[in-house]
Amino acid sequence: MYQFGEKIRFDLFGKSHADCVGGILEGLPAGVRIDETEIAEAVALRKPVAKIGTPRAEDDKVEIVQGLTDGKTDGNPLLIIIRNKNTDGSKYLKFSTTPRPGHADLPALVKFPEHDIRGGGQFSGRLTVAIVATGNICEQFNRSFGIETAAYTSSIGNIEDKDDRSFEEARGSRVYPTRSCTEDLDKKMYGDIVAAGNDGDSVGGTVTCITEGLPIGFGGIWFDALDALIAKAMFGIPACKGIEFGKGFGLGRMRGSQSNDPYYYDNGVRTRTNNMGGIVGGMSDGAPMVFRTVFKPTPSIAKEQDTVDLDRNCNDKVAVTGRHDPCIVPRAVIVVECMTALVIADQIMKEKVME
Ligand SMILES: Cc1cc2nc3c(=O)[nH]c(=O)nc-3n(C[C@H](O)[C@H](O)[C@H](O)COP(=O)(O)O)c2cc1C
Repeated sequence: MYQFGEKIRFDLFGKSHADCVGGILEGLPAGVRIDETEIAEAVALRKPVAKIGTPRAEDDKVEIVQGLTDGKTDGNPLLIIIRNKNTDGSKYLKFSTTPRPGHADLPALVKFPEHDIRGGGQFSGRLTVAIVATGNICEQFNRSFGIETAAYTSSIGNIEDKDDRSFEEARGSRVYPTRSCTEDLDKKMYGDIVAAGNDGDSVGGTVTCITEGLPIGFGGIWFDALDALIAKAMFGIPACKGIEFGKGFGLGRMRGSQSNDPYYYDNGVRTRTNNMGGIVGGMSDGAPMVFRTVFKPTPSIAKEQDTVDLDRNCNDKVAVTGRHDPCIVPRAVIVVECMTALVIADQIMKEKVME
């Protein structure tokens, strides 16, 4: 099991081709009302869409085995499982000797002699369905404190959304298959993913995430800084290779007079801009928390690439013919949203906002 969180602890378990994947969520107070329909809706947003997602079709039925009684948390750890039904490991066996570049195969095979290569084993994006189910429960908990999170696709390949989107626009992205914010962007991004797939290739992109309602001072300092915890959470998601808050790396090209977010009064302290992405000193400054993550192109591609044969100790070639997402980004959007909700819920309990 892979653990995350302190006051709200999340354990992730399972493998791509095991009987199930799942999560254990401990630490939520008893009596929190949980809407299971909303969990199913969140999980559905992670499902692959035809032509831009993997052909592997799972019903993704979320089973809450314990921890929920009459629609409310009952103080026991929530145990959640999602069964793997549509498994076919046949195309993976050759990666035991000829590891896929870009995937976890090589270090996993060296480190874990019993590694189950089918579907990438425990390194599979399949496990993120459990992050979505448990994270949505946290999102429902956070909402009772007026805190909400929404994410959207901000770029695919070279197609970039140049606008800073509002929370409502981010939430509105749910109607588009690529999870971008407009119909026009959706068409272009969809076309780019299809083209990459048709080419036997894959494409990457970015996800932007917005959290509203954080009170000023929400977060920790130093290694418990809110941005540090979010970064740790994001790098736990397979294929995430970078994160920036607010203007992020762009801050390196600014002067302080441009980058600082000046304060003013309007029913409390506000910031005129949000170059910091809502975090200073590891804590919320009251502006929405905004960060952007980058997801690399899917490693498994049909194009032939150089690899090695680990049995024969020689150079070789590998081409991936199994079922894969030509782009991870559209499916990663809800994962980013729900992983953020897990961090926020844990922080709510640490802050003892409950008292
Ligand atoms: C939602 C989701 C779906 C994914 N689908 C695939 C896939 O179909 N094929 C693949 O090779 N990798 C896929 N990945 C990425 C791999 O799991 C990941 O690249 C691999 O475990 C190596 O880890 P790293 O990229 O973090 O280094 C997916 C990741 C996520 C989050």
